[in-house]
Amino acid sequence: MTAGTHRAAVLCGLGGALPATVVPNSALAAELDTTDEWIRTRTGIRQRYVIAPGEATSDLAVAAGRRALESARRAAADDTAAGDNKVAGDDTAAGGGTGETGVDLVVLATSTPDRPCPATAPAVARRLGLTGVAAFDIGAVCTGFVYALATAASMITAGAAHRALVIGADTFSTILDPADRTTRAIFGDGAGAVVLRAGDPEEPGALLGFDLGSDGAGEELITVPAGGSRQRSTATPPPERDRYFTMQGRAVFNEAVLSMSKSAESLLDRIGWRGTDLDRVVAHQANVRILRAVGEQLGLPEDRLVINLDRVGNTVAGSIPLALAGAAADGTLRPGDKVLLTGFGGGLTWGSAALRWPAPHVEPVA
Ligand code: UT7
Repeated sequence: MTAGTHRAAVLCGLGGALPATVVPNSALAAELDTTDEWIRTRTGIRQRYVIAPGEATSDLAVAAGRRALESARRAAADDTAAGDNKVAGDDTAAGGGTGETGVDLVVLATSTPDRPCPATAPAVARRLGLTGVAAFDIGAVCTGFVYALATAASMITAGAAHRALVIGADTFSTILDPADRTTRAIFGDGAGAVVLRAGDPEEPGALLGFDLGSDGAGEELITVPAGGSRQRSTATPPPERDRYFTMQGRAVFNEAVLSMSKSAESLLDRIGWRGTDLDRVVAHQANVRILRAVGEQLGLPEDRLVINLDRVGNTVAGSIPLALAGAAADGTLRPGDKVLLTGFGGGLTWGSAALRWPAPHVEPVA
């Protein structure tokens, strides 16, 4: 494809955010019938972060979004300094369009919005100084970030947006059953965000394709049964346990491995890459045993897998962008790397995306 004849969505900014409070496995073991050893060996997780009373998903989304915008601003300054005119099709390069950032779209992937109604994205946009831009939430649980990325990228390639802030943020600590040792062991709070701009399909950072899918037959495997219209339309108050998140772990484990592997393989086929070509796979951080199984399916050694769940647990929609931010900041992701993102979550939903890694400036995440 020739520069300028097709628009692509190009990743040009990245940032992550975690709340201040760390919960090590030992803290859960002191409270619940579990052990550090069980959690580490069955999941790979050593600790997770949780928000403080009064904090909300939007607080993490704003913090990650601010870092991603700053990262994009530095990338644009580098391009200007280099006299680089490669952002063909980007008619709102930083400084133009909607305010200083040029961002005209905010998409927030979350399953723990600040309130059931309205969406959280408009409030996040306003707090980032992006008043007036299109802003909406996407709910695909742990696949939410990949769905949001595909949505924003498609709006950019269609010309419906020029520069998008795509955030994945969740605070599952607010919906977990305090007595459920399994979900308490796995989930943590966190957020990550990227900036996409219009650009050339050949340049580093261009999103090369997506594979998205769902199977509603699995809706009971990962669910908060109460609080939605199905339950609220009845006159009966829900049992206490139905207000909490529930997960059928073993079934979800198997589905996660199958769906991420199949989704990754069908995307690789479509874009003409082989699994063994991949430099890094950034898969949804649910369980290190799931990551290893997906790596095996793709024929990849473990060192090609980006892993941060030992430090942050499963941060749901925050998982993939938070892992990206950590790996970019510590140099695990190198410019030019062939990178595959793949996620799986409630719905059931799954999705993958591929890109050659650009060289964004990324601040370390806690
Ligand atoms: O992010 C969305 C997608 N989510 C996922 O991908 C999560 C996928 N599932 C998993 O990661 C794993 O299935 C879990 C980590 C949730 C569970 O690990 P598992 O090896 O599949 O364990 P299991 O559910 O088969 O349970 C084995 C045993 C059970 O005890 P019994 O019935 O054999 O006596 C559980 O009650 O382990 C017990 N168990 C625990 N023991 C100590 C479950 N959680 C804990 C715990 N501490 N925290």
